[in-house]
Amino acid sequence: MEFSTENKFARRMDGVPRSFIREILKVAISPDIISFAGGLPNKDFFPMEELRDCAMKLMSGTDRNIFQYANTEGYLPLRQKIAERYAQKGLKIDPANILITNGSQQGLDLLGKIFINEGDPVLIEEPGYLGAIQAFSIFKPQFVTIPLRETGIDVALFKEKIELHQPKIAYLIPNFQNPSGISYSESVRKEIANSCSKKQIFLVEDDPYGDIRFKGVAKHSLHHYLPDRTILLGTFSKTVVPAFRMGWIVAPDEVMEKLIIAKQAADLHTDYFTQRLVHQYLSDYNIDEHISRICATYGKQAAAMLNAMEKYFPKEVKYTTPEGGMFLWVTLPEGQDALQVFDLAIKENVAFVPGNPFYVDKANVNTLRLNFSCSNEAETEEGIRRLGNVLKKIK
Ligand SMILES: Cc1ncc(COP(=O)(O)O)c(C=O)c1O
Repeated sequence: MEFSTENKFARRMDGVPRSFIREILKVAISPDIISFAGGLPNKDFFPMEELRDCAMKLMSGTDRNIFQYANTEGYLPLRQKIAERYAQKGLKIDPANILITNGSQQGLDLLGKIFINEGDPVLIEEPGYLGAIQAFSIFKPQFVTIPLRETGIDVALFKEKIELHQPKIAYLIPNFQNPSGISYSESVRKEIANSCSKKQIFLVEDDPYGDIRFKGVAKHSLHHYLPDRTILLGTFSKTVVPAFRMGWIVAPDEVMEKLIIAKQAADLHTDYFTQRLVHQYLSDYNIDEHISRICATYGKQAAAMLNAMEKYFPKEVKYTTPEGGMFLWVTLPEGQDALQVFDLAIKENVAFVPGNPFYVDKANVNTLRLNFSCSNEAETEEGIRRLGNVLKKIK
């Protein structure tokens, strides 16, 4: 029997795009380019010496199990440390409800596997995190988008769409959202939770940036308001190092049970040695002090970018002013096309991510994402000056 090219691969892969950012970054590799396109934490804060000491300690001990197969849920003392960190924020979480994953990105894939049948409605913010759009797209959901406002998603629309579509999950990033940098106000969080309390829906609260707050006061997690129906995703990617791929999911018992099966099928367990390494780091060092150093620097970097934008951008260009995280979001005047601006900007040696990949059903958008965590003040000033010049030339 011959294969036809149409059925060589599974239908679930049809139309799922490669990472748009990786593709566009190929044109932004020249050393002359100042790039605000990446989504990387600042590598100056990778705790190299501390991690080296932790690795040495583990590897010079006698516990040969550090290199053994391990359980699917993850190293219990690490899960206990994660639960302790939540307790410091007032969240009561049993380590039995924490599953260690290969980055929070794997959490998204596992959630897709256990929840999404083809055509199932999935609520997502607009603009939305492109990694979630990609992970869920494999399971062919019907995305139902909720626009983001200054204080979070439009709650009235959220309620309306829940009634209309009865989705099983809503995927939300209440803290310093990627890509917009927006945070949900306390009342938006409360209202979302209230409106879901009597529904079957699970809120998937993705929180990779919550600890990276450099301004304002912390807000309650959705889990605080609706513990039984919130699935919380966390990660050490922005606070320790992303290379370890060390994330976790907090989920209610019935969800946890399914997640463990999906995780076993995917990879048996997350890299055990690295779990031990992160646990050692959390035991021997003060991660909160480390995080406050990251926050202090990111805060200065964000301020440098905002000051430069104030100085060099045309007045009709709007942008968000994040209180944490790594990104801010720019809205150009109606009718302008961020992809066209990108082509012009590359010629001026400055790069950003055009808004396109953050929408599930829109093209030619007038929005773009800027990353501030990887450039120093001088680079930021110069890059924003170049981008400002490009924006002033567009009519
Ligand atoms: C909103 C969001 N979720 C998940 C991830 C993935 O993080 P991890 O490195 O833990 O897989 C990212 C990474 O940038 C992100 O911005």
